[in-house]
Amino acid sequence: MPRLFTYTDFAGGSDKVRAYADKHTPVIICDLEAERDTPFQAKVRIGMNIKHPNTSEHHFEYIQLWNLETLVGEVKLSCGSYGNNPIQIETVFTFIPKVSMRLTALAYCNKHGLWRSEEIFIKVYDKS
Ligand SMILES: [Fe+2]
Repeated sequence: MPRLFTYTDFAGGSDKVRAYADKHTPVIICDLEAERDTPFQAKVRIGMNIKHPNTSEHHFEYIQLWNLETLVGEVKLSCGSYGNNPIQIETVFTFIPKVSMRLTALAYCNKHGLWRSEEIFIKVYDKS
């Protein structure tokens, strides 16, 4: 089982350590309520403030979105698509919720391992 890193593992560190954690941590950005059986979008962004390197030697390879133990979706990343410049990668997952969800994102850096977002609870409601 690989180790899963989170921002909070490094939150008590120096500015440099927190910047390292920021540029690796996926963040889920979405509404906290969703209408049942209606397309819903959740954006995942890696890094809130700091850009991550994006070279063939050091880059993110994939982003996954999970609902508890169920894989919702996965995006494979190619560093050449981003011009080899540092970047805060964003991707959007669109899916149709049936029941309330507990979403978590994972992102894999080929040099610094697997990073996990905070869990987000999405309340699913019925159309009125
Ligand atoms: Fe990295």
